[in-house]
Amino acid sequence: MRNDLILIAAVDRNWGIGKDNQLLRPIPEDLKRFRELTCGNLIIVGRKTLESFKDKKPLPDRLNVVLTRDRGYTCQGAVMVHDLDELAKAIEGFPGEVYLCGGETVYRQLLRYCSRALITQIDEAYPADNFIDNLDTLPDWEKTHVGEWQTSKVNVRFRYVDYERRGS
Ligand SMILES: NC(=O)c1ccc[n+]([C@@H]2O[C@H](COP(=O)([O-])OP(=O)(O)OC[C@H]3O[C@@H](n4cnc5c(N)ncnc54)[C@H](OP(=O)(O)O)[C@@H]3O)[C@@H](O)[C@H]2O)c1
Repeated sequence: MRNDLILIAAVDRNWGIGKDNQLLRPIPEDLKRFRELTCGNLIIVGRKTLESFKDKKPLPDRLNVVLTRDRGYTCQGAVMVHDLDELAKAIEGFPGEVYLCGGETVYRQLLRYCSRALITQIDEAYPADNFIDNLDTLPDWEKTHVGEWQTSKVNVRFRYVDYERRGS
């Protein structure tokens, strides 16, 4: 597996990422940044995250690679892979950036192959049923940039925090 994946996620104060297969609090400015970063590149998502997208359709203008164990599952416009070996083959040699876009099960399995993490911290604590590890507690990750707190037009505070794997 290539080991230069870029994890991208929006987390709340508890590193919650979702509830009932939806984002905790969509932030338009953050979704715009996500679109700008990932367009023209490759995104990896789990089947449940794919189904959380509008009309359960892949995101436009980028290569969507979807993990599912269901070999009968199809989705027009997306590449299906059924285990991590198939995933490795599907993303090897992709000339652009490869973004790891969740959800929880996919982040957990593939964090070890990430070299960077782009975290949007939301300054709220929401009820959540999906979480990722707090990167501040993991010794092999270091914070490389902490953005200023901003207030979204939906009236929540958020900031962008970047991490790198030590030694990568
Ligand atoms: N805050 C954020 O930035 C962010 C980003 C993305 C998602 N989310 C949230 O995360 C939540 C979804 O996370 P989740 O953990 O429930 O689901 P998920 O990771 O999106 O999808 C899980 C599914 O992926 C497939 N899968 C996982 N590992 C696999 C493997 N090794 N081989 C083959 N298939 C594999 C399986 O699909 P099958 O069941 O089809 O086999 C599994 O059920 C939602 O609330 C979503 O909104 C948040």
